[in-house]
Amino acid sequence: MRHHDLRYFIFILLPIVFILSCFFPTSAADINSDKQALLAFANSIRHGRKLNWNSNSPICSSWLGIKCTPDQSRVLALRLPGAGLVGPIPPNTLSKLDALQILSLRSNRLTGSIPLDIFSLLSLQYLYLQHNNLSGDIPSSLPSGLNTLDLSSNSITGEIPAGIKNLSKLSILNLQDNLLSGPIPNLNLPNLKRLNLSDNNLNGSIPVSLQKFPQDSFLGNVQLCGPPLSQCSAVLPSPSPSLSPLAPTQEPTKKVPRKRISAGFIIAIVVGGLALLLLLAVVVILCLSKRKGEEGTGDLKQKALEKPKEEFSSGIQVAERNKLVFFEGCTYSFDLEDLLRASAEVLGKGSYGTAYKAILEDGTTVVVKRLKEVVVGKRDFEQQMEIIGRVGQHPNLVPLRAYYYSKDEKLLVYDYVTTGSLSSLLHGNSVAEKTPLDWNARVKIILGTAHGIAHIHSQGGPKFFHGNIKSSNILLNSDLVPFISDYGLSPLMNPPFNTSCVVVGYRAPETLEARKITQKSDIYSFGVLLLEMLTGKSPLLQSQGHDDIPDLPRWVQSVVREEWTAEVFDVELMKYQNIEDEMVQMLQIAMACIARVPDQRPRMEEVIRMIEEVRQGGSEGRPSSEDKFKEANA
Ligand SMILES: *[C@@H]1O[C@H](CO)[C@@H](O)[C@H](O)[C@H]1NC(C)=O
Ligand SMILES: *[C@@H]1O[C@H](CO)[C@@H](O)[C@H](O)[C@H]1NC(C)=O
Ligand SMILES: *[C@@H]1O[C@H](CO)[C@@H](O)[C@H](O)[C@H]1NC(C)=O
Ligand SMILES: *[C@@H]1O[C@H](CO)[C@@H](O)[C@H](O)[C@H]1NC(C)=O
Repeated sequence: MRHHDLRYFIFILLPIVFILSCFFPTSAADINSDKQALLAFANSIRHGRKLNWNSNSPICSSWLGIKCTPDQSRVLALRLPGAGLVGPIPPNTLSKLDALQILSLRSNRLTGSIPLDIFSLLSLQYLYLQHNNLSGDIPSSLPSGLNTLDLSSNSITGEIPAGIKNLSKLSILNLQDNLLSGPIPNLNLPNLKRLNLSDNNLNGSIPVSLQKFPQDSFLGNVQLCGPPLSQCSAVLPSPSPSLSPLAPTQEPTKKVPRKRISAGFIIAIVVGGLALLLLLAVVVILCLSKRKGEEGTGDLKQKALEKPKEEFSSGIQVAERNKLVFFEGCTYSFDLEDLLRASAEVLGKGSYGTAYKAILEDGTTVVVKRLKEVVVGKRDFEQQMEIIGRVGQHPNLVPLRAYYYSKDEKLLVYDYVTTGSLSSLLHGNSVAEKTPLDWNARVKIILGTAHGIAHIHSQGGPKFFHGNIKSSNILLNSDLVPFISDYGLSPLMNPPFNTSCVVVGYRAPETLEARKITQKSDIYSFGVLLLEMLTGKSPLLQSQGHDDIPDLPRWVQSVVREEWTAEVFDVELMKYQNIEDEMVQMLQIAMACIARVPDQRPRMEEVIRMIEEVRQGGSEGRPSSEDKFKEANA
């Protein structure tokens, strides 16, 4: 390259490049223009939570809530749910992310109307703005590739625009809990799978094309009628034919022009010659200093402020984020990133891994279980999760809300149950921990537990079992309602039925010998739990490696055989009058459950029936406990 060529390049072409990027930042859309757009967004909106959007760090791998294309050339997804964003969505910022497919700003405190330019993002497929306080109308022109539109729980007004009819790919439309009025347009959308228009002020009759949706897609609209709601009175005119009420006035007016610079314009600048050179140089200097200033003043230098990563988040690669799988019916609205940023406290280390109590930024509290030694592959894991998620829908089970699976890390998200476990209430170390449980409370806990286990056995299929019933897995809320946790996890573990002394106390003899856990071995464990409740003695303490001390079942059996009736029961229970009969009957049930031969153990439904009979029999005249007891041991 000759000398003057180089000068030409430096003095003319470089300034042009800078001029272009100064005046027309979107004209060369790339990851840097996306970055500028995001920084502009962050700088013009109040955000309670510290975003770690540092202009010096790589946007695709370190910025929160950002997902890029595989080649890292554009931003594909922006997800900031529950990020504490306050106020109006700044216009003319996010609309520059013109490769954006997913935008989630749900569960913030956004107000004002949604900038029209968001709806001009032609690449947008998923728009989640629910749970804010956005107002204004829905424009009639929407991105044609939209798959999901969720504006629920805001203060959106006006009519549902007829333009929605043009969204042939739309599969989820959630507009419930807003202030929408007028008729529902005849949305004949072949791909629409979920629709919710409940809790608005819509009127008229439901168009035929939407009558296949359930009632609760439309509830809470007083003036709405027709199937699936009640019939319209004949007088009401059908509103659906008039279909473009808002279209003329709602045409977006602020659409951002996206002109590209023509080659002629560039050439004109180039041939502008030396006279322009000076001007260009000045502009370059201005431009450079402006950029520098922007970087310096951005309040996103968060490295130092960032919360230290909690233990359960350490193994998760950035690339694998946002793969938290939620179960149907779950009302939580957080992403994996929210979870990783939650403050966490260790609840306990169990046989399957460590449990953390995680408090998210919006105050939601959940339990995160970090599994160790999972041996099954992804597919088996997911299948088991599906069963656990389905089975967990019972008032006595801790529901599994979500899970995360990657090669190095497996997380389960459960509801948080407040008070503690049956184990801590029965044998807590400190006086404060140990709450005296009266007889009624104990029976209530054991009966609820029995119902939960019966549900696990009946809903999970014959091969599904709890696999780890013990008092520390029976959690209690403040009303002493039991919630069973950790069900269905043992098939995932290695070795499947790990022989640590922790679980030994509850383990049926056949599982030690044949290593075969079944529903019948759950019954055995339940029997031990029942003995624990009756005796106040911990099966774990009894079996911790002392061969000379028999385990709880053998100890009870030996005492009962020698008819030292009173000796087996918890001294705490001796304070109460007239419960000896019930205690003895419960003891009988426990003994049946810990029968050595699995087939001799009752099924869980029978156990429930027997416990209920004990309770009902409470006031009737019964044989003395002495007789009952001898009967039991006959
Ligand atoms: C939502 O915004 C409207 C005004 O648009 C206001 O009247 C209302 O109080 C707000 N609601 C909440 C819950 O902030
Ligand atoms: C919907 O599509 C039709 C035909 O393709 C077009 O005439 C109409 O303007 C579109 N409506 C909106 C609101 O974009
Ligand atoms: C629906 O409500 C609008 C006002 O929001 C009214 O003009 C229209 O007549 C109503 N239509 C029916 C069918 O009640
Ligand atoms: C629609 O939303 C309402 C809450 O506004 C809810 O009660 C209802 O179950 C939802 N319907 C469907 C079909 O999801």
